Amino acid sequence: MTKLSRSLLNWYRKHRRTMPWRGHPDPYAVWVSEIMLQQTRVETVIPYFENWLKLFPDVKALAKASEQDVLNAWEGLGYYSRARNLHKAAKIVAEKFNGELPRDLDDLRSLPGIGRYTVGAIASIAFKMDEPTLDGNLRRVFSRLYDLTDSADSPAGERMLWEYAAQNLPKGKAGDYNQALMDLGATLCLPKNPGCLLCPLMAICKARENGTQELRPVLKPKKKRPHYIHAAGVIIERGSVLLSQRPTDGLLGGMWEFPNGRVNDDPAKELVKALNAAYRLTVRRKEALGVIQHAYTHFKVTVHTFRCRSVSIPKKINLKWVRVTELDDYPMGKVDRQIAKKL
Ligand code: ADE
Repeated sequence: MTKLSRSLLNWYRKHRRTMPWRGHPDPYAVWVSEIMLQQTRVETVIPYFENWLKLFPDVKALAKASEQDVLNAWEGLGYYSRARNLHKAAKIVAEKFNGELPRDLDDLRSLPGIGRYTVGAIASIAFKMDEPTLDGNLRRVFSRLYDLTDSADSPAGERMLWEYAAQNLPKGKAGDYNQALMDLGATLCLPKNPGCLLCPLMAICKARENGTQELRPVLKPKKKRPHYIHAAGVIIERGSVLLSQRPTDGLLGGMWEFPNGRVNDDPAKELVKALNAAYRLTVRRKEALGVIQHAYTHFKVTVHTFRCRSVSIPKKINLKWVRVTELDDYPMGKVDRQIAKKL
């Protein structure tokens, strides 16, 4: 074992965080947790994880569930393609692997939503294999330990980081090692103001030695997020409201929303035209119902909402009248759930 892995594992024995999937004997539980934890904090994930295992206790249960139930259980976690891929992958595992997550790395990697990170995490944590992994936290930790000057999101930086991740892997303990690095990145080796004085790796950290902690990882400059303005119509008639289902692929795929469209600068004036262009809906605009802001990863939106009267509604499979009392059954993103809560 290298000094790095020995110091890290000693620290982990004392400071490991408790999480419901840690020490869970079922690879399916580890898989679900690793997908939920992508881009999402542990505290946020815990209640979703526990609810998920109640609703879908194993691969076969998940494979049999409807997409609507799956998206409902995921609602609020964001990045909904993760849920759709998990569902697709469960169907494949149920059919092709008799409900058991395969141990073969290529088989694992072939499943929707399982990339190099998830293969490494599942193989090391659930199957106790000697496999490295690399997520955002580990990228930051290794960039600092080796004071990596290459940009961490360049191909050369990426190659170096995977090498670092593999170099110190302690035989038979890769699962603990990988999770120790995740915990270190989440609790001490923070993006800003890292807690170097408490860090078990302080003595061997090159960035600490060079005083460059806050400059690592080097990343390509972020593009500014564009800001869009939308107008949405809340078309209510006799206790029902008109919803539209988004296409299966892409942002919020398969989720439901209030008919809406992008506008230039005057939402009240442009609403009717926007709904006609997007859905061939003809409506009459009534009073404003408020404004909702939301920041997605790649853009921000401001949504202006208006109650509307329908004049003519085309028969379209992605448009549906839904009882106001049943809106909770329809999975929605944060913006539309906020509108629904007002009704
Ligand atoms: N982030 C992703 N997977 C994790 C795990 N198993 N433990 C802690 N943080 C994580």
